[in-house]
Amino acid sequence: MKPRHFITLNDLSADELRAIILRASELKKIRASGTVYEPLKNKVLAMIFEKSSTRTRISFEAGMTHFGGNALFLSPRDTQLGRGEPIEDSARVISRMVDGIMLRTNKHETVTTFAEHSTVPVINGLTDRFHPCQLLADLQTWFELRGDIAGKHVCWIGDGNNMCQSYMNAAKLLDFKLSIACPPGYEPEMELLAATSSHVELFHDPKLAAKDADLIVTDVWASMGQEQEQKDREQAFSSYCVNSSLMQLAKPDAVFMHCLPAHRGEEVSAAVLDGEQSVVWDEAENRLHAQKALLEFLMK
Ligand code: CP
Ligand code: NVA
Repeated sequence: MKPRHFITLNDLSADELRAIILRASELKKIRASGTVYEPLKNKVLAMIFEKSSTRTRISFEAGMTHFGGNALFLSPRDTQLGRGEPIEDSARVISRMVDGIMLRTNKHETVTTFAEHSTVPVINGLTDRFHPCQLLADLQTWFELRGDIAGKHVCWIGDGNNMCQSYMNAAKLLDFKLSIACPPGYEPEMELLAATSSHVELFHDPKLAAKDADLIVTDVWASMGQEQEQKDREQAFSSYCVNSSLMQLAKPDAVFMHCLPAHRGEEVSAAVLDGEQSVVWDEAENRLHAQKALLEFLMK
C-alpha cells in the first residue's frame, strides 16, 4: 500500500485538515498538563535540510522526542545526496530504515520525486513553491483565537511565494476569502491562481487588499535562495510594508501573522510585529503542536 504523504495541503481533505488542527490544540493541552504521551515510540523521522531552519528543525525534532521517537538531522553536505546519489535511490534506501521523512529543499520536484519512491510518509518542510507545515500552525493559531476560518477574509501582503501559495490552497480547502497584494512581476503562479480563483483575488495595491480583513499575513521579500535579488526586491516592495496605517484598514479586531524570520522595517514595521494585534509567537509555538498532530496522523 502507498503511504500517505504531505506535500501540499491538497493531500488532505478539508475534514482531515480540520481534524489535524483540532488535534494540535489537544496535543498542546496534553503537553501543558505534563502528561507523557508516546504514540511514536521507537519510530524514526529522517529530516533532510537543503536550506537553513530554526522553527522547522526544532519543532520536528522536539515533537518526535515528545512522542517517544527520534529525529535524524541530515544535511546534503554530509550525505551522499550532496555528492549526486539520485533522489530516487536515496528515497528507496532511506525509507527502508526510517518511519517518516521530512524534506526542506530548493526545488519542489525534489520532494515530489522523493515521495514517489519512498515507502514511508514524506512531509514537505518547505520548498520554493509551498510551505504547508506553516499553514497548519497558522490555521491552528486562528482556530484557537477565533474558531473556524470558513467565510473569513484573509489578506496576504507581499511576495507571491511559497507561503502565499500555501494560503491559496488553504483558502479553497477551508472556504475563506484571500486577497493578495503583490507588486507586478511578483504574483503567484498563474495556474494556481486559476485553480483557486473561486476564493482568491489579486491586487497590486495593499490598501485595497487589506480593507476589512480579519487576518493580515506577510513574509520576507526575498526568500531563501533569492538573496542576490534583495536590493531589487527592496525597491519593488517598498510600498508593501505592513505598518500600523495598513493594519487600520483591516477590521478593528484583525490579527497579524508572519511565519518568521521577520525583517522589522522591511515587510513589517516593528510596531506591528511587536504590537497587540500580532500573534507571531503563538504562531511559531504552534509549529510544534500542529506538526505533532501531523506526525501522529501520518506515522501512528
Ligand atoms: N517559518 C519557518 O519555517 O521557519 P524556519 O525557516 O526557521 O524553519
Ligand atoms: N518564504 C520564506 C519562508 C521562510 C520560512 C522562504 O522560503 O525563505
